[in-house]
Amino acid sequence: MDNILVLHGNILFSKNSKELSIHKDSYLVSINGLIDAIYNEIPPHLKDYVYKDYGDRIIIPGMTDLHIHAPQYAFQGIGMDLELLDWLNTYTFPEESKYSSLTYAQKAYTNFVERLRKSTTTRACIFATIHEDSTLLLMDMLEKSNLSTLVGKVNMDRNSPDSLREESASIAFSNTEKFILNVLDKNYKNTKAILTPRFIPSCSDELMTKLQSLKDKYDLCVQSHLSENPSEIAWVQELCPWSSFYGDAYDKFNMFGRNTKTIMAHCVYSPSIEIERMKENGVFIAHCPESNINLSSGIAPIRTFLDKDMHIGLGSDVAAGTTLNLFKAIAYAIQASKIRWRLQDSSLNPLTVAEGFYLATKGGGEFFGKVGSFEQGYESDILVLDDTRINHSELQDLEKRLERMIYLADEREVFAKYVKGTQLF
Ligand code: GUN
Ligand code: FE
Repeated sequence: MDNILVLHGNILFSKNSKELSIHKDSYLVSINGLIDAIYNEIPPHLKDYVYKDYGDRIIIPGMTDLHIHAPQYAFQGIGMDLELLDWLNTYTFPEESKYSSLTYAQKAYTNFVERLRKSTTTRACIFATIHEDSTLLLMDMLEKSNLSTLVGKVNMDRNSPDSLREESASIAFSNTEKFILNVLDKNYKNTKAILTPRFIPSCSDELMTKLQSLKDKYDLCVQSHLSENPSEIAWVQELCPWSSFYGDAYDKFNMFGRNTKTIMAHCVYSPSIEIERMKENGVFIAHCPESNINLSSGIAPIRTFLDKDMHIGLGSDVAAGTTLNLFKAIAYAIQASKIRWRLQDSSLNPLTVAEGFYLATKGGGEFFGKVGSFEQGYESDILVLDDTRINHSELQDLEKRLERMIYLADEREVFAKYVKGTQLF
């Protein structure tokens, strides 16, 4: 028996970054977890199905958070007075050290997963910590939430405090393999492991070589950080004098696209040679505008990436970003692009609302396959939004209602949520 879902409401989604597809008062049909079609009226072959009538509410694809740190959720909104490297040493590493305790992890991750479940996010690429046990605990919780996630046990064997450093590359390798085997053994449906070298300053060449072999053996995707802050970039050049540029230090270990699905967060200062390599290799960029403001990192040239048709989505980057709410990430992306255009480079036009919405839905969703749109064959990740709390009763225009939500909405507006056709609430 086919599992058929028919939802009625005002339907908005992106086919491309330039324009929104808008279907007022229409019916979205999903069959066995995949989008089938959108109809103006219930078609005769579906007329016996009891459809879910969401009335005047707005139905959009689920959003993808391409970059978030689960263990940092507990300290979001604190300690934003420093730049990246000092912020990591002063606040972040001590906080992440606490996840050696399963009791602490249980409490903090329970809260994180519950908030993520309620948010506009249906898919996420998540950094945990170096600790295998608490990372598995997080994955158990995520599996139960029915969100679709990729989760990394973080690797770091240098330039980190004793409390948050793997003892050697060999120990990191064997613990990471043990973690991967545990994840495979659990046979999760909704959550998978992703290889997660924190960033080049935290990972020795020896560790990167070993992680490369794990990646090949278990066919893993990779996530990391790239060209976020000027001091970080200068440091990578010192640590890896053999690399031509920061991204090249990942590419030497085949962790920079090509046959390895890869997400690199930030890319604020990527030189053109790095941009070209990312484009050539098909690397996904996680744009994290709020984080880049909070840590005084800068503003990434998103217009350049869009014009070059590169893979790009949005990341909350909690806790350098202060919210899981990807509506806010869209708003920050648009706002940051305006400041960049005005103060830094008037040749790169600011992002439009349609472009920001595309980044949060189809742009980032692409990392998971056919995700983030309502075109036929896309996975049925669906949000039903109720904007009565913020809407002006006379505002009818659907595009304007969406724009208003981008600036004003949070999880309170998420009325119903589906991931791969399964209803979460
Ligand atoms: N680079 C390495 N680790 C981190 C982190 O936790 N957050 C951010 N924003 N950048 C990083
Ligand atoms: Fe990050």
